[in-house]
Amino acid sequence: MSVLIKNGRVVTAVDDYFADVYVEGETVARIGKDLDVQAQTVLDAKGKLVIPGGIDPHTHLDMPFGGTTSADDFETGTLAAAHGGTTTIIDFAIQTKGESTLKGLETWHQKAEGKATIDYAFHMIITDMPVERLPEMRRLRDEGVTSYKLFMAYPGVLYVDDGTLYRAFRQAGDDGTRICMHAENGIVIDEIIREAVRDGKVEPKWHALTRPTRLEAEGVHRAIAIAEVANVPLYIVHLSCHDALEEVKRGRARGVDVVAETCPQYLLLDRSIYERPDFEGAKWVMTPALREKWNQDSLWQGLKFRDLETIGTDHCPFCFKGQKELGRESFTKIPNGAPGIENRMSVIFDEGVVKGRISLNRYVELTSTAAAKAFGLFPKKGTIAVGSDADIVVFDPDAKRVISKDDARTHHMNVDYSAYEGREVQGWTEAVLSRGRLIVKDGSLVEKGGGRFIRRAGVGELLR
Ligand code: URP
Ligand code: ZN
Ligand code: ZN
Repeated sequence: MSVLIKNGRVVTAVDDYFADVYVEGETVARIGKDLDVQAQTVLDAKGKLVIPGGIDPHTHLDMPFGGTTSADDFETGTLAAAHGGTTTIIDFAIQTKGESTLKGLETWHQKAEGKATIDYAFHMIITDMPVERLPEMRRLRDEGVTSYKLFMAYPGVLYVDDGTLYRAFRQAGDDGTRICMHAENGIVIDEIIREAVRDGKVEPKWHALTRPTRLEAEGVHRAIAIAEVANVPLYIVHLSCHDALEEVKRGRARGVDVVAETCPQYLLLDRSIYERPDFEGAKWVMTPALREKWNQDSLWQGLKFRDLETIGTDHCPFCFKGQKELGRESFTKIPNGAPGIENRMSVIFDEGVVKGRISLNRYVELTSTAAAKAFGLFPKKGTIAVGSDADIVVFDPDAKRVISKDDARTHHMNVDYSAYEGREVQGWTEAVLSRGRLIVKDGSLVEKGGGRFIRRAGVGELLR
């Protein structure tokens, strides 16, 4: 199998030049001007960008949560990702409390096996970690699961106490792996929620009004302090606001190994959306909640000046009908999460590059390379180089589309709305290669399936 991508503008996190890219089998074989090679498939990329496939480090496919299950499974979610220019996801496997993390991993392998169209890896969500279970973490590392997520939020569900955090952080540090942290003081938030519900404040907007940014900042501060003492690299997930970002900057300034991720929803949407009538605000009930608009400037600054390192989607879709509606009586019953896996590359290109907030190189870094480096996928993934996996997107920087929830040109997620519905974006995925297989051409699916589990390397190690 060979593919020649001709006449494109090749952009990586550091490079920007015009060249042909020749792919043989699963990897990039040659890059050069006017390559004199024959290929089974030739793509003309004149006027297009040729960029590394997107890496989404934060997805929740087929995840039981909030009394229901996220609406995309590994088949529909990875198909949607592919259409949107993402060629690798890192999804969250979950440990059932009191059971083995290895069993949780097995369950997620079963969910994904044979269904995915793009490559995938797993973080492991730890829901308890008594001393006797700590050796499991090294076994997970050997299985290629080299990062964990722990929660200060969702008491009684995914929440773990600070002692558990410390134990897991220590072990992860010793094993050369990374901790991902959902940093929000869920215990205090639950008290605020109780007061709101007592006072009859149950509409969707109260989801945001009961989650002050200060309590996200407190979580970030605490996670950084524990990581500093435990000596483990830390990754703050879905950072949503100025206050929390300030804590990241403080930690970094004193030398703590902490990086942070934000998500398109925090960059593009704000909490006024919860005011929509007829319960529509429920569509954007996610945690952390959408914030006041002014926070967005701080987040863009953070991306530009590298206090924010990656953009993940936190794709956790629930249909409005039948799922979000579980919370008609009270916002506390609305399943938390929103769709986004398909839209990330376009909305960030439009709001970031087209609007002049970030450079093209930084765009590639934020949507692909930095996640590859943070999570042990680089240089197999996250760049275009000889020997790297041919996960390549031909991206049209001029194409404009209006994001819809039912137009098959813009929506393949298994959910009855889009978080960005009605938004016109500039920048669209035209063709996608996943390890050398042409899976999307002219924006349409060519081939389904073929995605593989990727065993990731540890922190600071290269994956070949
Ligand atoms: O609302 C969200 N973010 N749902 C997914 C679970 C999580 O906290 O990432
Ligand atoms: Zn979270
Ligand atoms: Zn999440």
